[in-house]
Amino acid sequence: MAKVDILLGLQWGDEGKGKVVDFLTPKYDIIARFQGGPNAGHTLEFDGKKHVLHQIPSGIFHPGKMNVIGNGVVLDPVTFSREIDGLKPYKLDLHNSLIISGKAQLIIPTHRLLDQAYEKAKGESKIGSTLRGIGPTYQDKMARVGIRAADINEPDFESRYNELKKRHCEILDHYDFDYSLDEWENDFFAALEVLRGFKIMNTEYYLNNSLKEGKSILAEGAQGSLLDIDFGSYPFVTSSNTISAGACTGLGISPKSIGEVFGIFKAYCTRVGSGPFPTELHGQEGEELRQKGREFGATTGRPRRCGWLDIPALNYAVMLNGVTQLFMMKADVLSGLDELSMGTSYIRSETETFEFPVNFTSEWKVKYEVFKGWENTSFKTYDDFPESFRTYIQYIEETIGVPINLVSVGPDRKDTLLKS
Ligand code: GDP
Ligand code: IMO
Ligand code: MG
Repeated sequence: MAKVDILLGLQWGDEGKGKVVDFLTPKYDIIARFQGGPNAGHTLEFDGKKHVLHQIPSGIFHPGKMNVIGNGVVLDPVTFSREIDGLKPYKLDLHNSLIISGKAQLIIPTHRLLDQAYEKAKGESKIGSTLRGIGPTYQDKMARVGIRAADINEPDFESRYNELKKRHCEILDHYDFDYSLDEWENDFFAALEVLRGFKIMNTEYYLNNSLKEGKSILAEGAQGSLLDIDFGSYPFVTSSNTISAGACTGLGISPKSIGEVFGIFKAYCTRVGSGPFPTELHGQEGEELRQKGREFGATTGRPRRCGWLDIPALNYAVMLNGVTQLFMMKADVLSGLDELSMGTSYIRSETETFEFPVNFTSEWKVKYEVFKGWENTSFKTYDDFPESFRTYIQYIEETIGVPINLVSVGPDRKDTLLKS
C-alpha cells in the first residue's frame, strides 16, 4: 500500500511550507491539508509570480493533482471563495482538482467577531491571534455545537446557522465590543454558493481508497510545532494539533499509513504574535534579519519577530513529529554575516537543560554557539557549499540526528537544492 508523507513546520509557522509543498507536488498524486484554516498563509513563487494560499492546499497549481481540504481543517467560505476567484486567471480545473471533507468545521462570521472580542478583552496578555475565527471555531467543534461543511446542503442549514449565531451573539453581549454583521453575513451567504459548487464528501474514504490503489499522498501542515495546542508555548498557540499526529485525526488515516515526515525549518527563527521566543534578537540585528528575509506575515502583514536558530526547540519538534528528513529554508537570508549564533541549551539558576521548558520566562537564559558566516548562497549543488555553510549544516545534523536533505536559498521553486 502507498503511504502518506507529511510535511510540517518545526518552528512557529511561516517556515516556507507552501514553497516546498509546491516543489514536491510533482512526486505525489494527492496533496491534503489536515488542520488549521485561514490563519495560514502559504507563499509559492514561480515564473516570476507570487501566490499566497490560506485555505487551499499548495498543490493546486499542478494540473492533474488532487487537493483535499481535510476534516481537521476549519473552513471559512468567504476566504475560500476569494481564493477561488484569485485562481481564475490560471484556468485550473478547480472543480476536478479540489475536494472538501464534509466534516470540516465551518467558520461563520460570528466566530470571527468572537475572536476579536476575546482578544480585545485579554488586553496586554493577548495571543496575537490572526483574528480569523480559528479559536472560537475549534472551541465549538469540541463543544459539539459547530456546523460542518456537509451541513450547508441540508434543508435545516439556515436554522442551524441562526441557532449558532444566536449563541454567539449572546456571548458577545457580555463584551465591550461593537459590531455590525450585515455586510459579513452577505459575503458569507454569497460564498456558500461558491462552496456548494465543489464536491463535499467523506474524504477519509477517498484518501484510504487512493492509498489502496497505490496513489501517493503528501499531507500539508499549517502553522508550526511550537504553536501546537498541546506542545506549543501555551497559551500562545493555535487551537489545533499541528504535529504529525494531527495528520491522522485531521485526514482519517491510520498511523500505519505514515511514510516520511519532512520537518521544515528556517536557518534562523521567526514568530508572529505574542509568546516566548528564547533566541529572539531585539534591536538592530533583529531588524536586519526582518528586512533581509522580508519577514512580514503572509496573512496579516504584521512584522515577524526574528532570532537565531534554537536547537533545543528544534530537537523537541523533531522528537514530537518523528521527523525522518529535515529541510532547511532561507539559508540565503543569513549570508553576508561575519558571524552567526545558534542557541544550544537553556540555563536557569545555573542549571543547564536541553529540554524545551513548560514555561519559558525571563529567568531562563540561552547558551549560544558562534559560527563563521558565509558570503552568499549562489551555489548550485550540495557539493559547492562553502566550508562555513557546511559546518553550520553538519552541526545541526549531528546534534539533531536527522539529515538535512533539502536546502532552500530563495523564494522561487527553482532556488531549491536536494542532497543527491
Ligand atoms: P509558510 O506559511 O510556511 O508557507 O511560509 P510563508 O509563506 O508564510 O513564509 C515564508 C516566506 O519566505 C515567503 O515569503 C516565501 O516566499 C519566502 N521563502 C521561502 N523559502 C525561501 C528561501 O529559501 N529564501 C528566501 N529568501 N525566502 C524564502
Ligand atoms: P502558517 O501556516 C505563523 C499564530 C498567530 C498567533 C497564534 C494564534 O502560515 O505557518 P490563531 O489565529 O491561530 O488563533 O493565532 O498563532 N499563527 C501563525 N503564525 N504562521 C501561521 O500559519 C500561523 N497561524 C497562526 O500569529 O500568535
Ligand atoms: Mg505562513
